[in-house]
Amino acid sequence: MSIKRMIPGPKAQEYVARDAARISPSYTRSYPFVMARGRGSEVWDVDGNRYIDFNAGVAVCATGHCHPEVVAAIKAQADQFLHMSGTDFYYPPQIELAEELNRIAPFDEEAQVFFTNSGTETVEAAIKLARYYTGRNRFIGFYGGFHGRSMGSLAFTASKVVQREGFSFPMPGVSHVPFPNPYRPVLAITYGDYGDAVVDYIENVLFAMALPPNDVAGILVEPVQGEGGYVWPAPHFFPRLRQLCDKYGILLIVDEVQSGMGRTGKWWAIEHFGTQPDIVCAAKGIASGLPLGAMIARKSLMIWGPGSHGNTFGGNPLSCVAALATIRLIENGYMQNAAEMGDYILEALAEIRPRHPSIGDIRGKGLMIGVELVEDQETKVPARSLRDGVVYKAFEKGLLLLGAGMSTIRISPALNITRDLVDEGLAILDEALTEAEQEMLPQGAGARAVAA
Ligand SMILES: Cc1ncc(COP(=O)(O)O)c(C=O)c1O
Repeated sequence: MSIKRMIPGPKAQEYVARDAARISPSYTRSYPFVMARGRGSEVWDVDGNRYIDFNAGVAVCATGHCHPEVVAAIKAQADQFLHMSGTDFYYPPQIELAEELNRIAPFDEEAQVFFTNSGTETVEAAIKLARYYTGRNRFIGFYGGFHGRSMGSLAFTASKVVQREGFSFPMPGVSHVPFPNPYRPVLAITYGDYGDAVVDYIENVLFAMALPPNDVAGILVEPVQGEGGYVWPAPHFFPRLRQLCDKYGILLIVDEVQSGMGRTGKWWAIEHFGTQPDIVCAAKGIASGLPLGAMIARKSLMIWGPGSHGNTFGGNPLSCVAALATIRLIENGYMQNAAEMGDYILEALAEIRPRHPSIGDIRGKGLMIGVELVEDQETKVPARSLRDGVVYKAFEKGLLLLGAGMSTIRISPALNITRDLVDEGLAILDEALTEAEQEMLPQGAGARAVAA
């Protein structure tokens, strides 16, 4: 193992103390990793310790840290110009990127693109376009969903109450329904799968009793819930949701901020469900680490005129050239690698599962994999402290993980991670799980898991 020094080392400790004095305490750091540099899926802290990166800057560094082709594109653009504002002027990288996003958009119709700087701003743009196009002002969102923290996106975000507590009312008009999480259903399934149950609930309960469907502009949904716990929906859900949207003239808006850009082995996670959305929100992995978001809509929806929406920085030229390089790399092998490495990780996790009584569920496709930890296989009580313990122990042993949802570990490395690094990382995860289970799992849970 290549960890050379105390974790956190002296320099990291000093930075963490300085950070605590001057940086907003609203940030959510799970452990004191202070980054110095990164290459691919390896990173080093300010004390020279090496780590394997299984989260890629929260699913952002799609091509790994500092991919030479991405860095070269950024440097070349930096020599030409840094900014001109795409709202007021034209420049080729923004136009070329919009053309590429049109090419890979997950619907048959032509697309048009509005560029932003982040996920939340992309969601805001989608909300505004949906209102503008439909003339309606109500929406449906999902429990467990995460869409950002500005007042429009926050109205949909419902993965942890702390994200809303103390902020009074965000944008009005959003009704929440359960996400079709097959591992933790809260509605009865009378036929089909849990996806049918959720869509029937929207139509037969919500639309019949509280929310006039003709007032609904859009349904905003993550194809795979990210912050909510890397939750993959039941298979019938999206095809049925599409039918519901078509029946009532509602726009289907998919938030692919975390799940998009090849992460699941396809450009967009919604493609796994054979469903075409009306609007796609992209950000995070789109530019390998530079800030960029894109609201990609069917062209027929883009009826708004000059001045109705805009921004200063959206589609910055450095971010656009980084995105063009990222798309080339993803297309020329990394998406395939994500699919293959994802299958490989799922198999490896299935192998270690019998030794780990805390593993309640393993789910995913490509490099969007969740391992949900429970105190007991039967009751499925979320093992939150255990999960946090595993994440911290992994950090100490040289693996960067992040949690998601109540008690899930998310595995979301760069799409070009190598098999050697996957093996090294999984061995650390296995060790961290074993130790944390021995120290923290309630007595008897192991026996019940073995019996099951
Ligand atoms: C699915 C999803 N939507 C939106 C956002 C918000 O993105 P940002 O933090 O760039 O505003 C996130 C961030 O984690 C996300 O995962």
